Amino acid sequence: MTRLTLFLPCAGGVEDFLADEVHGLTGLMGEDLLTVRGGVRVRGDWALALRLNLHSRLAQRVLVELAHAPYADEHDLYRLAAGVSWEDWFTPHQSFRVDITAQGSPLRSLNFATLRVKDAVADRFRERAGGVRPSIDTQRPDVRVSAHLSASHATLYIDTSGEPLFKRGWRQDKGDAPLKETLAAAMLAASGWWQPAERRVASVPLYDPCCGSGTIVIEAAQLALGLPPGGQRHFAFERLKPFDAQQWNAIKNEAIGALFTGAEGQNGLKSAVQIFGSDVAHRMVDFAQRNAERAGVAHAVQLRGGDALQRMPPTAQPGVLLMNPPYGERIAAAGVAGQGGRGREAFQSGTLARQRTGTTHAASASAHAAAEVNAGDEFFTRLAAHWKSHYAGWTAWLLTPDLKLPGRLRLKESRRVPLWNGPIECRLFRFDLTARRADFKPDQPLGQD
Ligand SMILES: C[S@@+](CC[C@H](N)C(=O)[O-])C[C@H]1O[C@@H](n2cnc3c(N)ncnc32)[C@H](O)[C@@H]1O
Repeated sequence: MTRLTLFLPCAGGVEDFLADEVHGLTGLMGEDLLTVRGGVRVRGDWALALRLNLHSRLAQRVLVELAHAPYADEHDLYRLAAGVSWEDWFTPHQSFRVDITAQGSPLRSLNFATLRVKDAVADRFRERAGGVRPSIDTQRPDVRVSAHLSASHATLYIDTSGEPLFKRGWRQDKGDAPLKETLAAAMLAASGWWQPAERRVASVPLYDPCCGSGTIVIEAAQLALGLPPGGQRHFAFERLKPFDAQQWNAIKNEAIGALFTGAEGQNGLKSAVQIFGSDVAHRMVDFAQRNAERAGVAHAVQLRGGDALQRMPPTAQPGVLLMNPPYGERIAAAGVAGQGGRGREAFQSGTLARQRTGTTHAASASAHAAAEVNAGDEFFTRLAAHWKSHYAGWTAWLLTPDLKLPGRLRLKESRRVPLWNGPIECRLFRFDLTARRADFKPDQPLGQD
């Protein structure tokens, strides 16, 4: 197949890491690899699209650009879509859906724009295939067409990924606030533990003390072992016309072969790096363990139960703490700070007050929220004290939407990296942990392992 322009969308803040990753995977640079807002644009062939689906941890999808032109209204969109050779990509016996995203578009209704693109694709098939046209299936389409509208230009794509790439296939057990796998990988890149341009991971231990369903540690372990993120799932390209099963098997076999011959795979499927996770909720640790087994990394991660405020460093060698700590009501801090601490008392006294006076729902909600804030403050104050006592020499990276987190920890961050968790603007804060002052006395003895 001829040269293609591919667009790989990613979460906001991840563009440069994704460009590094694509460069590391392909060697592309310059005009063949452009970083743009919201993703990277890559020039390459069909095989490259398959390889990027299999190997990219940071891209949300791999899209093939099929048309790009100025537009003013829905008629222009119809004409643009009607001019694309959709018949080169799929048959009228397959189903499809159209998705449109827009930024600064003058169009009033994106629904109507979507309808016009759908009509153009269907009409083109009907004219060329004796009246047969592909059906629409919004739930499980064979083919996804997407369009992006800027203020002046429309771009049409065919999607080679299908389900978004953060769905790796191994996470079937998850808690209330799981991190997307792509964002966990972005945290690993932003912390420098994973260097995507060099295809290397650092040789220091990694520890997530609030690991939940294990997303960060499992992504890290797959990287350390050289396992491709897409090795356990299917892709939309398998249903597109250019798909050649032999070519795809060769690409997958090449990835498996690299496991045993490449830099990361010199020890077969053993990792030289130590990766640890723990969570106060034993149910979460079970989830993480099962996910790690499905991801093929159970032998490369050590998962345990325990309160982050009490767990001692898992190795003598200082390493990297990487986590998205509990935040907000849905995932309030548990353990010693959440249950026995002042936060809980504040919540209980709020509850009692409500019972006595019959305060309104709004008052009760605000008492609850205040209690959560207190519990959160308690958790972070104690976490910082625990780290200062026991984690000197470690580097901690915390992802949070709470811009006041350094104040709550009473630590000064040495870096802050903006990252978007879907629509939520977050920061990945870095703290360099040093020993605490000798005169500091903890409120109560901290548990040891
Ligand atoms: C935002 S979630 C982390 C999600 C995780 N990254 C994932 O992908 O599933 C926060 C986690 O912190 C845990 N947690 C809350 N308080 C804790 C504590 N005191 N010690 C350890 N873990 C705690 C919760 O059980 C929850 O799993």
